[in-house]
Amino acid sequence: MDTLQADHGREDPCNIQLTGLDVSGPKRFQDDSIWPYFERLRREDPVHYCQDSPYGPYWSITKYRDIIAVDTNHKVFSSEQGVTIVDVPAEHLPPSFIKMAPPKHGEQRGTVSPIVAPENLAKLESLIRCRARAILHGLPRNETFNWVDKVSIELTTQMLATLFDFPFEDRRLLSYWSDVAVSTPKQGHAIDSWDKRSAVLSECLDYFARLWRSRINAEPRLDLISMMAHSPATRNMDSREFLGNLILLIVGGNDTTRNSISGGLLFMNQNPSELRKLRDNPMLVSSAVSEIIRYQTPIAHMRRNASADIIIGDKQIRKGDKVVMWYISGNRDDEIIDNANSFVINRKNVRQHLSFGFGIHRCVGRHLAELQLKILWEEMLNGRLNVKIVGEPVRVASNFVRGYSVIPVQVVA
Ligand code: HEM
Repeated sequence: MDTLQADHGREDPCNIQLTGLDVSGPKRFQDDSIWPYFERLRREDPVHYCQDSPYGPYWSITKYRDIIAVDTNHKVFSSEQGVTIVDVPAEHLPPSFIKMAPPKHGEQRGTVSPIVAPENLAKLESLIRCRARAILHGLPRNETFNWVDKVSIELTTQMLATLFDFPFEDRRLLSYWSDVAVSTPKQGHAIDSWDKRSAVLSECLDYFARLWRSRINAEPRLDLISMMAHSPATRNMDSREFLGNLILLIVGGNDTTRNSISGGLLFMNQNPSELRKLRDNPMLVSSAVSEIIRYQTPIAHMRRNASADIIIGDKQIRKGDKVVMWYISGNRDDEIIDNANSFVINRKNVRQHLSFGFGIHRCVGRHLAELQLKILWEEMLNGRLNVKIVGEPVRVASNFVRGYSVIPVQVVA
């Protein structure tokens, strides 16, 4: 597996032969040096074929409009072989509704989506506010700590525990399983084989199977397990499909929102004039949240496979080809987004970004994610919390989840 970690060195992105340009190396995401490579592809070869990569041959789709053309054409661009550039071995790739086509996709998605319907979000609002306040209130003063752990992970994991009605005291298991689920096995790491990854995820399945058994024998309730246990679309799932959908919901609800909370703090620290703008006009908070999510792009890519020959841009894509939609690049396409490399909280059309995808798989939980970020920022503004980043952020080495493991901060009085 170590080849998947290949570092392509520190070559000049403008001098590499275009045919050999491979943007997939996780190291470039970890050290945040990926940007000029995507800029070059958008400029010179927006639909780019890479013949030779640690993940096999694949197409990179790097411009906003082409990404939407792929994402909204689920008949030709199928997610059934997986949604990440890495080819997970079939026996380790359980089915889940993000990898399904209509009608089954819609039936299963429809089973869980009431949890994030506006009336339920309205009910969750006061709970999130209460928790955000408690987390912020409990932060150490004038002492360095990791924002990712104490705030980003804590708030999102508490939320996920509520969505599943999962035992609150065990909630950190959710973030652990989420981290394992998105990791590609690497030599020298705790998860160094697909089998080890599956062993941890089967502990997750066992835990949730106990919850399932208690919910199926009780009245239906508004939590994700009960909803799946009682719906005709999901109540007969086998254990692999149950695990697949659990992982989808755990990762969906966890990493993405967590990394947007972390990214938001980083961007406000890097752009003090934007933070001042927000402090002077707190009504900008919703707009700031959308800009944070665009600028972070917590899911860097989604992958599809072509089920028929098709032309995208001026390129002929063949049936079976692997196609990677780089949302991270489309979100910096300045043909669509003015001054796209800048973080501007009151930009025009701020919601026009690709971070939640498009088409039938567009993120189910997007309004909940936005709500959590909005409330957290409102509470930080209300409490006049001044959080300074006091060390280098540590980014995760992944071309899929764009995020951070450490952001050292201090709350200054
Ligand atoms: C799908 C991003 C928060 C649950 C997706 C997709 C993306 C995404 C890119 C795939 C879209 C596509 O293929 O077109 C994000 C981001 C979030 C976030 C950036 C936070 C900032 C959440 C939350 C939940 C969630 C909080 C659950 C509570 C899901 C599910 C899917 C999904 C279940 C699969 C939808 C389907 O296949 O129909 N998300 N997500 N996400 N997301 Fe999110």
